[in-house]
Amino acid sequence: MGNNTTAAEYSVIVPPANGILDEVVVPGDKSISHRAVILGSIAEGTTNVFNFLEGEDNLSTIGAFRSMGVEIEVEGHDQRSISKPGRVTIKGVGLHGLKEPGSVIDAGNSGTTARLLLGLLSAQNFSSVITGDDSLRKRPMKRVVEPLKIMGASITGGGGGEYLPLDITGSPLKGISYASPVASAQVKSALLLAGLYGEGETVVEEPGKSRDHTERMLKLFGADVRTEGTRTGISKATSLKGCNISVPGDISSAAFLMAGALVTQGSEIIIKRVGVNPTRTGIIEVLRKMGATVELLHPDEISGEPVANILVRSSPLTGVEVSGEELLRAIDEFPVICALAAFAEGTTTITGAAELRVKESDRISAMAGALSAVGVKVEELPDGIKIKGMGGKVLGGTVESRGDHRVAMAMSVVGLGSIEGVTIAGAGCVDVSFPGFFDLLGEVARR
Ligand code: S3P
Repeated sequence: MGNNTTAAEYSVIVPPANGILDEVVVPGDKSISHRAVILGSIAEGTTNVFNFLEGEDNLSTIGAFRSMGVEIEVEGHDQRSISKPGRVTIKGVGLHGLKEPGSVIDAGNSGTTARLLLGLLSAQNFSSVITGDDSLRKRPMKRVVEPLKIMGASITGGGGGEYLPLDITGSPLKGISYASPVASAQVKSALLLAGLYGEGETVVEEPGKSRDHTERMLKLFGADVRTEGTRTGISKATSLKGCNISVPGDISSAAFLMAGALVTQGSEIIIKRVGVNPTRTGIIEVLRKMGATVELLHPDEISGEPVANILVRSSPLTGVEVSGEELLRAIDEFPVICALAAFAEGTTTITGAAELRVKESDRISAMAGALSAVGVKVEELPDGIKIKGMGGKVLGGTVESRGDHRVAMAMSVVGLGSIEGVTIAGAGCVDVSFPGFFDLLGEVARR
């Protein structure tokens, strides 16, 4: 891959590849890495986290807890080396040991950091302010702020509490039973973290089952969490106990390599020790529905999460319809599904995806714009997209990432399968979730 400048907003040229052939590991799961830092910080004793994702989002979470007096040591590691996993060591301060931060907490680009911390900070005995970058300051926060206020939280800020920066005055909380209008793991997790401190029981009911990493990890730390379908309850805790966490590879990162293998001829890739939590495997079902050969090998479990090696071979793809529960379990894979749809025979229609308009970018508009720029016929729908597959004949061109890591990586997949290659402007954002992405792509892609 060729970098055009060294500035943060550099462009990368992804030339067409003659297949992808390798056995690789991908960086640790972003969602699980966030939760390990949060729970490790408020537990008693030491928590060691192996295969932690040192992406920018997770470093924002570490920065936030360091600013609240938590000692966190990061031993950097080669993200690709399974034999030498790195380690983050967190000296937990207990549920009531966090200190008032000396300055504004900056969540950067990370919605998970901002929303989960809103839940935790609401219950502390100090005041704090949380903000984020230009993109995060435009993303909706009321979905978390409103139920937290019902629990007794005191949060004020722009748009009546909709937008960062938000001021939080720590307050005593009470448990509530809340029916969330959105199926969102960030909303659920914020309420469960607040629920650790709320008098009595806190129950969250969702319209669909969002990822359940918080619940699984809370159990490892000894919290009293109960799940029944789309209903999750937690009781006020007296303490959490630090533990060792091994983070599986991120299926959302693996998805770009899986897709790269699918759109290039003669490919076979095995991605090792990837998290295959059922709330995250919608992408595997969508790929199989499109006609892809995907096998899960050596199933195992680490730190309460199912893992497997994922094998993918190049396959002809057909257009599909994606919506509802399947889409929810592939919510972060919308950009990569759009990229694959461009190579399929027939039309792919994704609906019920309005939520994608308030991610790191408006992903519906970003993918419609990027695919149009490389010669693909796309129709933007209010809640989704319609993509006319080119049956493997995508020309290529120059596209904008719009500062969105998953858009940049999805369009890199298009570059691999294209006739002339794709130049991605604003490619530096991949560091948010997949540091080293372009180097890894350069290593696995045959020219
Ligand atoms: C995440 C939850 C999802 C997902 C995001 C990470 C999490 O967001 O899109 O990338 O770690 O809890 P929502 O909760 O907004 O659906």
